[in-house]
Amino acid sequence: MTNIRLAAVPDRRFRADVIAGLSLPQKRLPSKYFYDAAGSRLFDRITELPEYYPTRTELGVMRVHAREMAARCGSRCQLIEFGAGALTKVRLLLDHMETPAGFVPVDVSGAHLREAATTLAADYPSLDIEPVVADFTVPFDVPDIDAERRVVYFPGSTIGNLEPSETDDLLRLIARLVGPGGGLLLGVDLRKDIKILEPAYNDSAGVTAEFNRNLLVRIDRELGGNFHAASFRHVAFYNASLSRIEMHLVSDVARRVRVGSTTFDFRAGESIHTENSYKYDVNELATRALRFGLRMDEFWTDAQRHFAVLYLTATEPTRTVSP
Ligand code: SAH
Ligand code: AVI
Repeated sequence: MTNIRLAAVPDRRFRADVIAGLSLPQKRLPSKYFYDAAGSRLFDRITELPEYYPTRTELGVMRVHAREMAARCGSRCQLIEFGAGALTKVRLLLDHMETPAGFVPVDVSGAHLREAATTLAADYPSLDIEPVVADFTVPFDVPDIDAERRVVYFPGSTIGNLEPSETDDLLRLIARLVGPGGGLLLGVDLRKDIKILEPAYNDSAGVTAEFNRNLLVRIDRELGGNFHAASFRHVAFYNASLSRIEMHLVSDVARRVRVGSTTFDFRAGESIHTENSYKYDVNELATRALRFGLRMDEFWTDAQRHFAVLYLTATEPTRTVSP
């Protein structure tokens, strides 16, 4: 493993995004800012919760089908993982891959990525691992190595945390990054009964609430804020008309909050919208991806169809012909 490459989100961008988001009529904060070292640790705890079915279900799909997924990636593939996190799922893939040319885990959470990559390197000593600390929504450099093809691995349904227009931008970026013949192995959480969806974001141990509030803890510490996160209430519900879980932090009382020298007023009951987690339908997502030249070749799912992993191949981009 060489030195970790850095292109993380600069502090001034964090400040500008927070000020802009809190200035909107419906206050908003981008969910990528959940993930400092503490936020990544909290997410790792979420993945172990009895109510949080996505991680367990995706791992189950991987355990059964990793060999077929690895076969799709082919030999001498450069595997690039977006939103790499704890690097748990990729092991199942690596165990079946034929002589991978290299592995590039990409994440905004630098310390957590470094730790996960170090552990992985100890377990896979012959694998060329080049971690990149970057925001994957913005173009970034991937080490140029001699490989048969590039495949982006994007598990965890992190794609569901992007807005539809951001999803389009990311699919375009991935198609360009892997080039014709390259692939995208994509994990997505599927639409299902609200009775399964809502408890996954309202766990009885309160870990998701702590994860949500960590965003305010971070603002207080890094940007000189005075939110006092504990006084905001965690709320998560399924918005069926938009097929998404919404997470909010609610102020039950009217208050004025400061971020550095800027102040924001809250009415009693007003919320900050902190995350969307869109739930997908496989065919709808495949149709969307095709617009960016990513053709679905195969997908795998669990018996209850709660979660799917899709393999898409980048073809020459389809051109829009103007009349
Ligand atoms: N892939 C893991 C982790 C999912 S949690 C799994 O499937 O369990 C989402 C991960 O994506 C976190 O590690 C977070 O730090 C990272 N992430 C979120 N937004 C990001 C962005 N814009 N750029 C890079 N990484 C991002
Ligand atoms: C990373 N991402 C797909 C998680 C999700 O389910 O949307 C983040 C999360 N938010 C609350 N719990 C987990």
